[in-house]
Order: sequence, then structure tokens, then C-alpha cells
Amino acid sequence: MAIETLSLNDVEASYQRGVKILKGISLSIIRKDISCLIGPNGAGKSTVLKAIMGLVNVERGSITLDGEEITNSKANQTMRKGVSYVPQGRTVFPEMTVWENLRMGGFILKDKSKVEERIELIYEMFPILRDYRNRKAFTLSGGEQQMLEMGRVLVLDPRYMLVDEPSLGLAPMIRNMIFEKIGSLNREKNIGILMVEQNAVQGLQTAHFGYVLDMGRIRFRGRGVELLKDKRVRQLYLGGGEIKTGDS
Ligand SMILES: Nc1ncnc2c1ncn2[C@@H]1O[C@H](COP(=O)(O)OP(=O)(O)OP(=O)(O)O)[C@@H](O)[C@H]1O
Ligand SMILES: [Mg+2]
Repeated sequence: MAIETLSLNDVEASYQRGVKILKGISLSIIRKDISCLIGPNGAGKSTVLKAIMGLVNVERGSITLDGEEITNSKANQTMRKGVSYVPQGRTVFPEMTVWENLRMGGFILKDKSKVEERIELIYEMFPILRDYRNRKAFTLSGGEQQMLEMGRVLVLDPRYMLVDEPSLGLAPMIRNMIFEKIGSLNREKNIGILMVEQNAVQGLQTAHFGYVLDMGRIRFRGRGVELLKDKRVRQLYLGGGEIKTGDS
């Protein structure tokens, strides 16, 4: 069987005509992997995810999902094909309960009993969401809201999940838990992950493969742990110091 991939081929994208934000991005997300995008503010990391979801205009190049072209497809269509997207910043519906938020995740599914079944599976993955199912989302902590956001897109049973800055603003212990959850979604639920991370060290430690983006171009690519050890990557993007990479 062919390797399942979500690929960008020489993608150029812009929000406004004439202002290119992505300047020829080529990368291939392998479904069995966790891939991580790092890079400075404004590099275009979020724009890569938006390009996949059809939320920014791709002017050149192509995006393919397991060989099928999805360039500039509407987000809803791409979601139906198995790609879920968790945007940057907290986006839960604050006045809705946890359960109502999860139901919203299944809004494009006609079969509502399927949605209920999936919500049960999500409660198994994130037991805290079951405990808090009747609480309004704004009462949850940052980490719990991040779990709810991931839970909400998992209702669609995706094959790939794009996550923008999942650990942003979280305390270290909660952050570790989020990275562990992402790891188990990949390993146990067979979901290909593309995550964007400010926390470059932990992001690259979690990921099988990493990309360093700068000014709309990929500057470095490689296995996560190898990028972490790369002198140039360390100097330019990781603050230059020695990085403890653990045993992985
Ligand atoms: N909706 C938009 N309209 C116009 N320009 C935008 C829009 N969103 C982002 N940009 C610009 O595109 C460039 C890349 O932004 P992007 O959000 O992809 O960066 P990023 O790498 O995710 O940065 P950060 O680390 O700050 O999240 C920036 O110069 C930004 O100002
Ligand atoms: Mg961003």
C-alpha cells in the first residue's frame, strides 16, 4: 500500500494580492508520524495550516491528500475528507457546555447517533471532559480547554489533525500532558499530526519530523531530534544554548 501523506508541493500563498506569505513550501506529512513546524513569529507557520484548510489563497503549487488534489478546497470539504484543524488561540464556545461543544464538532455529520458514539470515545481519551460535560467551557482551565478543542475535532474521526500552538500559555505540567495526548492520538488512534509549536524544544522532541520555517520558506528539515542537535538551528532558532534532548 502506498504511504499515506498530506503534501504541499511548492506552495505559494497570500492573503492580499501581491503580498506573498508562503514562498514555495514543499513538505510531506506522513500519516504515521507527528510532524512539527517551528520558526519565529510571523514566519508563516499558521499560514501553512490555513493553506491546507483553504483559508488562505494558494496562488501557486498544489496540496494533495493521499494523492488527491485539495488545493483551495473549502475547509468543510477537507474536513469531510479526514483533515481536522485546531486553530491558534482558544476557540471553544465559552457559553456552551463541554458536551455541547463536542456536539458542535460533529455539525457536518448527519447521523447524530454517530456523533454520540464518537463523543463516548472522546470521553475515554479525555476522562476530564466526561467529568465536566455539563460545565460551561469558559469555566475550564487552559489545558482542559485545549483538550476540549482537540476533542471537538476528533468527533469527525480524522485521519490527519493540524494543531496550531497546542501548548501556548499552559503551565509546564499541563503542557507535558498535552504533548503526551498528541503522542497517543498518533500512536493509538492512527492520526497523522502536523503541529505548530512556539515551544520548539518540546515540539521537536515529541515529533518524528520537524521543519524550521522562516519568512515563508523552509530553512531546515529533518528528524525532530536531529534538528534539535543541529548547531545552526540551535543558534538561529533555539536561543543558541545547549539543548538537553533526553533519551529519545
Ligand atoms: N489574515 C491576514 N491578513 C493579512 N496578513 C496576514 C493575515 N494573517 C497573517 N498575516 C501575515 O502573514 C505573515 C505570517 O503570519 P502567520 O500567522 O502565518 O505567522 P506565524 O509563523 O504563525 O506567527 P506566530 O508565531 O506569531 O503565530 C505575517 O506577516 C502576518 O502579518
Ligand atoms: Mg501562528
